[in-house]
Amino acid sequence: MSVMKKLVVGNWKMHGSRAFNAELIQGLLVADLATTAPNADVAVCPPFVFLADVADALQGTAIAVGTQDISAQTQGAYTGEVAGPMIREFGATYAIVGHSERRSYHGESDQLVADKAKAALAHGLVPIVCVGETLAEREANQTEAVVGRQLQAVIDTLGADIARVVVAYEPVWAIGTGKTASPAQAQAVHAGLRAQLAQATSSAADIPLLYGGSVKPDNAVELFSQPDINGGLIGGAALKAADFAAIARAA
Ligand code: PGA
Repeated sequence: MSVMKKLVVGNWKMHGSRAFNAELIQGLLVADLATTAPNADVAVCPPFVFLADVADALQGTAIAVGTQDISAQTQGAYTGEVAGPMIREFGATYAIVGHSERRSYHGESDQLVADKAKAALAHGLVPIVCVGETLAEREANQTEAVVGRQLQAVIDTLGADIARVVVAYEPVWAIGTGKTASPAQAQAVHAGLRAQLAQATSSAADIPLLYGGSVKPDNAVELFSQPDINGGLIGGAALKAADFAAIARAA
């Protein structure tokens, strides 16, 4: 059983508005997670346009801020991209990279995801590297091969710095579908990721491995009690303060 503190990260995806976010944050602050969820480090990842608002509202609280993506570049003619130094300026701690929605809708390759992870680290951000298989891949018994390939690109690109990332296993078939991987299914994949990381770094036991995909208050305890599950990446339930707080307390 891992003794590391759990990490619970909310991925707001393309949801929210200034008014909605203010209310959500108010609910999270009232939940007093520093006291009521002492075993969880907590962060939220709003859309880029809300980063300044959210970072201001959470400054000095126990809740950290991250982004849902980051450019692999530092600056320049990359229309629509947002670079690490810009993100850092707003006090963000984390940057999600390689979410399956970006891999599938934006054609992000394993190498681009690895380059984004490298850019995050270069600019003082902790990359949350997402890996995960589709339903077809799982049914073809390719889960291990797919997530292994996705993770290996990051290991090969970062070298020893792999010890500084967070990895999130998010089976694509469990995202937003209400279908959660069973704790045993998730644990099996996490154990494989841990073993792969151990080939690359002596700090593999200290790398937080998050599970994501329909995590809810009623399944969080069992998922988080698996030995290689060190927290969660939460989508839908992160948009409800009570649910997100309950998941943090499950840690
Ligand atoms: P979900 O999303 O919790 O809504 O399934 C998780 C994610 O995609 O990060």
